[in-house]
Amino acid sequence: MIRFYEDIDITPRNSFHVRQVAKRLVEFDRAEELPELFAKYGTSDWYVLSGGNNVLFTVDIEPLLITPCDDRIEVVAYEGDKVRVKVGAGVEWDDLVSWAVERELWGIENLSLIPGKAGAAPVQNIGAYGVEVKDVIRNVEMYFVEGGNFITLAAEHCGFGYRESVFKHSLKGRVVITAIEIELSKVANPRLGYGDVVREVEARGGATLANIRDAICSIRRSKLPDTAVLGNAGSFFKNPIVEQEVAERLRAEYPDMPSYPTQEEGKVKLAAGWLIDKSGLKGYKEGNVGVHERQALVLVNLGGATGGEVIAFAHKVVARVKEKFGIEISPEVNVL
Ligand code: EPU
Repeated sequence: MIRFYEDIDITPRNSFHVRQVAKRLVEFDRAEELPELFAKYGTSDWYVLSGGNNVLFTVDIEPLLITPCDDRIEVVAYEGDKVRVKVGAGVEWDDLVSWAVERELWGIENLSLIPGKAGAAPVQNIGAYGVEVKDVIRNVEMYFVEGGNFITLAAEHCGFGYRESVFKHSLKGRVVITAIEIELSKVANPRLGYGDVVREVEARGGATLANIRDAICSIRRSKLPDTAVLGNAGSFFKNPIVEQEVAERLRAEYPDMPSYPTQEEGKVKLAAGWLIDKSGLKGYKEGNVGVHERQALVLVNLGGATGGEVIAFAHKVVARVKEKFGIEISPEVNVL
């Protein structure tokens, strides 16, 4: 079914809870409805608003907002120890993780409690605790608006990288993702190498799926603010990728600086949260916006902030980190 709304308050549809109005918003339940939807509302000016967890609205929204609502999870094939699952774009990501853990299927447990919908997961290649969604995605189903046709894109053509995909570049604004197909495994494969994960899992009695999920949920809850209480969009910034020499120069001055290897030779990923923290901004507040007290990578709406206030605050954070470390961090959230 297609549901159309006019002049709708989108405060509850964005996790930052900034108060903006959308001129037109349309929800749809099934991919097959998209040709009719675009025929009716036009193909020229639209934007997909999924769970609204990675977007910052800074103005009232003129383009047609399109929200996918297909919330079906279906097993499509069993291949030996592997299970292929088709997931509608409107499935709440963490409901999918919970579904998989209940069925003893491995692959996405480290991605527990990431806010957002399954259809948005490939766009920024969501990741946490050493796992990225690209590790399980086999293909992504979408509607190609210009051509008016449906496409299934295999994972190797999705241009996945750290918080990157083709959906942020050549396919941006051209497709509506309708489903993803992921491959899970019946064989245990605990990945506990990141930060406190191993300790938290051991404290729960060992590496079962349920224990890993519980440990990850508990680590996230201890660091990341609950959007129901404090508006935010998770990590506001990406962790910057810099030349090895830059990292070494900084490490000479800050021996405790965290850094991570990347797939690109000669490049290292730094922790934006650490850079912001070391710039003295953790817990810093101005008006209705602040840097979260427990995780400096997260900006929070302390109540009633507009998107404009959040973005102005973010620019100050970027400038302070640039001044202190000479590194330019950039937003991970989509600014509209
Ligand atoms: N750090 C600080 N101060 C802070 C925050 C972090 O010193 O205020 C240090 C930490 O001590 C650690 C390092 O920075 O040494 C990295 O911090 P953390 O492990 O918390 O992870 P992150 O790099 O800040 C990334 C993802 C998160 C994901 C975690 C865990 C990005 C942009 N963010 O954060 O994803 O949950 O790793 O894997 O890559 C999100 O995208 O919304 C998100 C929350």
